[in-house]
Amino acid sequence: MVHIPVMLEEVMSYLQCKSGRIYVDATLGGGGHAEEILKRTAPDGILLGIEWDEEAIKEAQKRLDPYGERVHLIKENFIHLPEILKMKNIEKVDGILLDLGLSSIQLERGERGFSFQKEGPLDMRMDQRTGCTAADLVNHLSLPELERIFREYGEEPFARRIAKAVVKEREIQPIQTTQALRRIVHRAIPKRFHSKRIDPATRTFQALRIRVNEELDNLRKILDVGWQVLKKGGRIVILSFHSLEDRIVKEAFRRWEKEGVIRIVTPKPVTPTIEEQRENPRSRSAKLRCAERV
Ligand SMILES: C[S@@+](CC[C@H](N)C(=O)[O-])C[C@H]1O[C@@H](n2cnc3c(N)ncnc32)[C@H](O)[C@@H]1O
Repeated sequence: MVHIPVMLEEVMSYLQCKSGRIYVDATLGGGGHAEEILKRTAPDGILLGIEWDEEAIKEAQKRLDPYGERVHLIKENFIHLPEILKMKNIEKVDGILLDLGLSSIQLERGERGFSFQKEGPLDMRMDQRTGCTAADLVNHLSLPELERIFREYGEEPFARRIAKAVVKEREIQPIQTTQALRRIVHRAIPKRFHSKRIDPATRTFQALRIRVNEELDNLRKILDVGWQVLKKGGRIVILSFHSLEDRIVKEAFRRWEKEGVIRIVTPKPVTPTIEEQRENPRSRSAKLRCAERV
């Protein structure tokens, strides 16, 4: 399945892509946004693509191959952006894009364990070289910690019930698969609260994914260093899909503006058009924010 880049036109217009400039796509995914940056910065713009998922970076590599030496791809966590730039002998860049969350490539592959709609091991690591899996978390974390994760990262009203059900189940046998966890969550949430619109397991899966990949911590870290590597007039554009992420971005932008290091370009988050939301349901929760280095 192809990942459709979200708010493509809006992202390009806020990034102000021009030839001869250097852009960082810190969440390369399948390379949809990256390819458009390359088209709009022809003939000599440089794209530095960062991605920590082996399968995703391979897809992007194939797609961006025609752009030759204008493309530099690095398989790494984006929090290491300053070191990556140093390694590439690049001092400052003209734009940074962060398109947070999962790509359809990851969601579609059952064996990655991200989707409650597909059978697979309860993994959920985007970077499969490191860290613990979702199965490690549900089988080993304490009841209060599981409850906190489901409540904070999933905004799940039945966090305590689900955490209790998980702990009870793992005493009988370890929870190893997406479908095993989905069944536990379905049983833990009273039937009358099962929504027809979204699967009752959605929030629990989201919460575990955020925790497994330390998504909020990584976002805070890249925000702390991002503005420092921008040239004067350079821009950072962030697409987030979750209210917790959007709040972190909003607060960081306000802090920097107070410090006088950036200007907020989008006082309110920009959202996708109705047509885009209809054509690409994944775009529905997207919020775009942009700031410019002064
Ligand atoms: C929504 S997708 C990006 C899709 C891309 N813009 C496109 O148009 O194809 C987000 C990607 O960011 C990657 N990612 C998330 N956190 C990361 C991190 N800390 N470091 C590197 N890559 C990360 C994920 O693995 C995923 O492939």
